[in-house]
Amino acid sequence: MRFITLSLLATLSAPALAADVQQLTAEGAALIPPFQQQLLDTVKAAMQEGGPVKAVEACQLLAPQITAQHSQAPWKVGRTALKLRNPNNAPDAWERQVLEQFAARAAAGEPVMELKHAEIVDGEFRLMKAIPTGEPCLACHGQNLKPELAAVIDQRYPQDQARGFAPGELRGAFTLRRSVENSQ
Ligand code: HEC
Repeated sequence: MRFITLSLLATLSAPALAADVQQLTAEGAALIPPFQQQLLDTVKAAMQEGGPVKAVEACQLLAPQITAQHSQAPWKVGRTALKLRNPNNAPDAWERQVLEQFAARAAAGEPVMELKHAEIVDGEFRLMKAIPTGEPCLACHGQNLKPELAAVIDQRYPQDQARGFAPGELRGAFTLRRSVENSQ
C-alpha cells in the first residue's frame, strides 16, 4: 500500500511541479505591479516636490524601505541589474545568468516588457521579470544627466554604473523568491 502511494507520487511529481511553477509564477507576477507602482509614485512625487536631486535622495532613502515593505512572507521581492546603482542590489549567480539571458533575448529582438523567467532552484521558487528603461527614467539613468544631478549621484553612489541607458533598453529586473515547502 505504502509502495503504491509512493510510486503514484513519483509519477505525479513532474506534472505537479510544472503546475506549481505555473501557479507560483502567477502569484509572484501579481506582486510586481503594486511594488513597481509605489516606486514610480514615490519618485514622481519627489521629482515634483524637489526636482531630480531631491528625488535621488528620496530614492536612496525610500527604495530599500518600499522593497522591504513588499516582501511579505513567504515572498521576498527586489530589483537587480547588470549595471548597478546601489551595490546592495547586486545579482547572485543565478540572477546574473538570467539577466544575461534577458540581454541576449532582447538583443535577438524579444520585447523587453515580455522577458520573464521562473524556475525552482534549491528548494526555492524564483522568478525574474525584466524592467525596460522608460522616458521618466532617463533623467537619472539616461545618457545626458544634468551636471548637478550627476554630481549628487556620484557622491551617493560612487560606483554607479546605471546611467547611459536609451529608451526601451533593458535596465534590470524584478526578482522574487519564496520557499516551495508549503506552497500547496
Ligand atoms: C530621481 C532619479 C531616478 C529616477 C527618475 C529613476 N531612478 Fe532608478 N534608481 C535611482 C536610484 C537613486 C537608485 C538606487 C536606489 C537604491 O538605493 O536602492 C535606483 C535604482 C534602480 C534600480 C535597482 C537596481 C540598481 O541599479 O540599484 C532599477 C532596476 C531602477 N532604478 C530602474 C529605474 C526605472 C525603470 C526608472 C523609470 C521608471 C527609474 N529607475 C527612475 C534613481 C532614479
